[in-house]
Amino acid sequence: MTVAPLAPYPATRLRRVRQADWSRRLVRETTLTPSDLIWSMVVHEGEGRVPVASMPGVERLSVAECAKAAVEARDLGIPCIAIFPYIDGAKKDATGAMAADPDGVISRAVRAMKDAAPEVGIMCDVALDPFTDHGHDGLIKDGDIDNDSTIEKLVEQALVQTRAGCDILAPSDMMDGRVAALRSALESEGFQKTMIMSYAAKYASAFYGPYRDAIGSGKLGTLGPADKKTYQQDPANTDEALREVALDIAEGADMVMVKPGLPYLDIVRRVVDEFAMPTFAFQVSGEYAMIMAAAANGWIDEQRAILESLGAFKRAGADGVITYFAPRAARMLGA
Ligand code: PBG
Repeated sequence: MTVAPLAPYPATRLRRVRQADWSRRLVRETTLTPSDLIWSMVVHEGEGRVPVASMPGVERLSVAECAKAAVEARDLGIPCIAIFPYIDGAKKDATGAMAADPDGVISRAVRAMKDAAPEVGIMCDVALDPFTDHGHDGLIKDGDIDNDSTIEKLVEQALVQTRAGCDILAPSDMMDGRVAALRSALESEGFQKTMIMSYAAKYASAFYGPYRDAIGSGKLGTLGPADKKTYQQDPANTDEALREVALDIAEGADMVMVKPGLPYLDIVRRVVDEFAMPTFAFQVSGEYAMIMAAAANGWIDEQRAILESLGAFKRAGADGVITYFAPRAARMLGA
């Protein structure tokens, strides 16, 4: 018995264009290039390179190594580096005072990288958590993170970063009103060119775990709240992300970010569709660690998983990805 196929089969056979590499390339809807990557990098005050246990392949770099890495980024066609500090426990305090040290490790790294490769953009995280002994992004008052006094500290930190040569300020603290405060401080100090990429939709996520190891962040709950849920977003919410993004744009953000990345691709797509702003996603430390751990066990193909995950951000509509895989991915992409 022959069964009559349902129209429009076989007039439409979606497999036709999939049959060869050349035809697959021809109909490909999105592409990933090194220009889509922002290299997430950790700097420390010591010498050389120190491996991060929970992120195999990621190392904390000295200031001198950061400068070399900036040259590497340029040669690989990576447009921008996002730099995060590892601070010695002895230098931390409850107010994160070292965040505004003009000779701190971030300032020194930014200057060294801009000297070595001025063509590469440098982005700095604006938040106090690497510098506070309690690990929170702001100042603690009455058992919670105090919004407005934290913003004053963030402005001081951001101006130090800007004076060191930072091109993009990336506030990751999730205080209300911080983008407006940063923008007005930049304008009144004459820094009209400094860009702001706000961590606009940033969720209280379990996927930041390895980052806290990478930057030696304090264990939450010793002095303040046990988590960041009073300032970072509830993972259950999506409309709220649009309100966060709308506010940051109104306050003067040039680019917006969604974080974490892969578990929040729905948010990336909604933000892109709604605002048509330059939109980035952060493939965070836990996402990196998951891929590396599964690959180490032989459960997934490491290289394919890296490129597939990065490509997913482009498909979701992102303009680019902040990722610890940046140099490896750029090499795989044949830079
Ligand atoms: C701090 C900050 C965090 C990350 C970037 N900036 C951690 C946090 O909010 O707890 C996470 C980066 C990563 O996990 O790779 N404000």
